[in-house]
Amino acid sequence: MRAYQLPKGGAGIDALVKVERPKPKPTYRQVLVKVTACSLNFRDLGIVRGTYRLPVSENVIPLSDGAGEVIEVGEGVRRVKVGDQVAGTFFQRWHAGEPGPDTHLSALGGGIDGMLAEYVVLEEEGVVKIPAHLSLEEGATLPCAAVTAWHAMVEHAKLIAGSTVLLQGTGGVSIFGLQLAKAMGVQVIITSSSDDKLARAKQLGADHGINYKTTPDWDKAAVELTGGRGVDCVVEVGGAGTIARSFGSIRVGGKIGLIGGLSGPATELNPGMILAKRANVQGISVGSTQMFDAMNRAIAANKLKPAIDKVFGFDEVQAAYKHMASSAHFGKIVIRLA
Ligand SMILES: NC(=O)c1ccc[n+]([C@@H]2O[C@H](COP(=O)([O-])OP(=O)(O)OC[C@H]3O[C@@H](n4cnc5c(N)ncnc54)[C@H](OP(=O)(O)O)[C@@H]3O)[C@@H](O)[C@H]2O)c1
Repeated sequence: MRAYQLPKGGAGIDALVKVERPKPKPTYRQVLVKVTACSLNFRDLGIVRGTYRLPVSENVIPLSDGAGEVIEVGEGVRRVKVGDQVAGTFFQRWHAGEPGPDTHLSALGGGIDGMLAEYVVLEEEGVVKIPAHLSLEEGATLPCAAVTAWHAMVEHAKLIAGSTVLLQGTGGVSIFGLQLAKAMGVQVIITSSSDDKLARAKQLGADHGINYKTTPDWDKAAVELTGGRGVDCVVEVGGAGTIARSFGSIRVGGKIGLIGGLSGPATELNPGMILAKRANVQGISVGSTQMFDAMNRAIAANKLKPAIDKVFGFDEVQAAYKHMASSAHFGKIVIRLA
């Protein structure tokens, strides 16, 4: 079968090579999936650049996100059957509850081979059926970014209609955050470096947009937009460059879902900021299979369609990564295999 592999994390985008690998075979409680499409996440860029903080296997097949059709099931499989359209879960071994200390070792496209191959074997509990109204390209966008946004806003912050969330930038996590928030009746303040992207976010339902380049004290602007109260939750993807202002933008008792490091990984944090806001900060690691299923029910009930920026072919994988590196995208970047 055709696949891509990365000889060594940190070798760069051009080090990704096309290879022939044997078609894998499912064993007990595993399924074989014929992959139709994959999608990219910022983490995949970190892996090729060598800035990803978790272990990456040598010659790993990249990408956590992909969707396709189940074409064979191993003994004991109950959750899915041949013909089902499924997406893989980011962690192959985190079904429900709290993640274990070694959950990260089962991350697709990092600790173990990922989805950028014609066929993949996945754990039975490491696949979810994609909502019926979505294509496989759309389904391929869900496993990492969407589940992460759902985890931060629903499982952690427990947002309800009338709450306010602040989303940073217009990448994969934030645009799913926007769509899911609006489906729940949550007010959205979104930031971006681009007025054009803010206008697109408003078309998707964002209530307020703040350009974080022209308004560097966007935290104060967010507090003003909430009548002085502050937002209930920040989906914090910016990292070192944004975290202090995220504390500035939340209400007393507000929540922060700590997710990413788009502006750099490390900074000094003043504990007084947490104390002053009685802030509740939770580190988020994508989510479990159970969270993915719950999110899919919300996506199906609201007929949500993922915002796909651009679809690349299997021979254009490097161009797809470079497009992500340019930050020109809005929402998700897809690679079509079939
Ligand atoms: N912990 C987890 O489980 C988890 C899961 C998913 C993602 N992540 C992390 O979350 C982050 C976002 O991932 P993604 O896949 O959504 O990335 P992405 O699609 O590549 O998002 C890129 C966008 O983020 C915005 N951005 C960049 N720097 C920013 C800054 N300083 N302040 C505000 N926005 C900024 C830009 O939007 P504009 O062009 O609109 O300015 C940029 O286009 C990454 O750090 C990723 O590693 C973590």
